[in-house]
Amino acid sequence: MRFLIFVTLLTVLSGGLVGSTVTGTYFDRFVLFIFENTNYAKAIKNSYLKTLGNQGVLFTNYFAVSHPSEPNYVAQIFGSTFNITDDGDYNITGTNLVDLLESKGITWKAYMQNYMNADNLDADIASNSVPQFVYYVPNQQNDAHDTSVDFAMSWFQPFFEARRTNPNFNTNTLFFIVFDESGGGSSNQVYASIVGTPVNPPSGHSDNTAYNHYSIPATIEANWGLGNMGRFDSNATAFTRYLLHP
Ligand SMILES: *[C@@H]1O[C@H](CO)[C@@H](O)[C@H](O)[C@H]1NC(C)=O
Ligand SMILES: *[C@@H]1O[C@H](CO)[C@@H](O)[C@H](O)[C@H]1NC(C)=O
Ligand SMILES: *[C@@H]1O[C@H](CO)[C@@H](O)[C@H](O)[C@H]1NC(C)=O
Repeated sequence: MRFLIFVTLLTVLSGGLVGSTVTGTYFDRFVLFIFENTNYAKAIKNSYLKTLGNQGVLFTNYFAVSHPSEPNYVAQIFGSTFNITDDGDYNITGTNLVDLLESKGITWKAYMQNYMNADNLDADIASNSVPQFVYYVPNQQNDAHDTSVDFAMSWFQPFFEARRTNPNFNTNTLFFIVFDESGGGSSNQVYASIVGTPVNPPSGHSDNTAYNHYSIPATIEANWGLGNMGRFDSNATAFTRYLLHP
């Protein structure tokens, strides 16, 4: 996965006024952690990923939208792959999710570990200025791309556990943990789960509703009444079923 795309598309990697919180229907902050190239069957064998599902809701019918990695990232932010089928450099124009957020004064930031300074997250937590939409991309070792799901989780577990209890990070925050794509094979089913105080889980802690990466913008749009981008986000199923504003 090449992150140049984010730099070129999102000329600045953050926006909005720090300090103002726009209350959402289900949550006031959405924090996404994305991992790579692991299918659902393999991911769910990892004990930490299983634990996260048991704490919140595990999505047992969530699919990536394409191969290889890049079109999946594009889909999450643009509601379309724009027919990209490789990991090349593209300059995409057109409304994307953060344009909708900015139109309502909702703050956002992309933290790209070892590409941009992802340590800024800790500074933002310390100063209680974590934006309302956080897109966190671990480096290619920690996201499993060059390693394995077990390696990635051996990084993520202590990282997340050390931060998720901090009220400057977790207050009314929906945490979403997802993989970009299966990495190949016939099925593109991937692991996805939600945790955090806005989650009101069913007793089995699982949701078999059909979701895909377009459900991400659909959920964020539904939460803040953003309208849509007029692409596949407009009819995607939002994963709001087990959410309740704290
Ligand atoms: C993708 O390609 C199909 C088939 O050529 C075309 O109909 C569609 O409009 C394209 N989608 C985008 C978002 O460019
Ligand atoms: C995208 O735009 C940047 C900035 O104008 C330019 O340097 C780059 O070559 C462009 N990339 C492509 C693939 O068009
Ligand atoms: C949304 O519409 C597209 C294009 O008609 C279709 O392919 C897709 O399955 C629809 N998605 C849902 C969740 O109904």
